[in-house]
Amino acid sequence: MIELADVHVRLGQRDVLRGITVSLPERRVGVIGANGSGKSTFARLINGLARPSSGDVTVLGLDTRRHAARIRRRVGFLFTDPDAQIVMPTVAEDVAFSLRRKGLSREEVEHRVQEVLARYGLREHADHPAHHLSGGQKQLLALCSVMVLEPDILVMDEPTTLLDLRHSRQVADLLRGLPQQVVVVSHDLALLEDFDRVLVLDQGRIVADAEPEAAIGHYRKIMS
Ligand SMILES: Nc1ncnc2c1ncn2[C@@H]1O[C@H](COP(=O)(O)OP(=O)(O)OP(=O)(O)O)[C@@H](O)[C@H]1O
Ligand SMILES: [Mg+2]
Repeated sequence: MIELADVHVRLGQRDVLRGITVSLPERRVGVIGANGSGKSTFARLINGLARPSSGDVTVLGLDTRRHAARIRRRVGFLFTDPDAQIVMPTVAEDVAFSLRRKGLSREEVEHRVQEVLARYGLREHADHPAHHLSGGQKQLLALCSVMVLEPDILVMDEPTTLLDLRHSRQVADLLRGLPQQVVVVSHDLALLEDFDRVLVLDQGRIVADAEPEAAIGHYRKIMS
């Protein structure tokens, strides 16, 4: 469960989010809106990467201001650009790097890495250089490195922006199958078509909050 209570975020001279109050129990929540409307800031609030200037953000019952470290362990975050998230030379090493602080044996790390790579279709690439992967495969690798930590919530900021239609569909299918709660910021409206709920942000406020068809309709209207 994700709850925001009268949240304001001020960055420099700008009110980036203004008076956001929302509870999100749904499994798949989309966030859309114009460039600069505050979507990424909203996403970053959920895992404590951004802090409210006032108001409260509560995730899994924890206040993100006081428990940022605990929240970051339970809320996985995927950036638009997987290169920003890939840190180790090979695919398997990159996933293993996520587990470095878990106190697991080498065998257990190896087992979990192989399991997650197989789940997302990257097993044959385990020993390949990560920078040789295609854009879509890199996105899957970034996802593996997050999912191996078994987060309770997954937040994605424009996960399909760099992907072709086939890889976008792959991500959409994948999201459908995830057991976790997912919050997805996207300009890819098709990705959100079967979500449970879609929020529309405009100039730092929620201006629509509905099922996808109605929310996307509202977004189209304000953008035209
Ligand atoms: N660190 C910062 N300092 C000052 N202003 C910032 C900072 N980070 C973001 N902003 C401003 O906050 C506003 C919202 O930014 P945000 O990245 O949340 O928008 P967005 O909806 O994700 O946009 P996009 O669709 O382009 O990704 C923008 O006007 C941006 O310039
Ligand atoms: Mg953004």
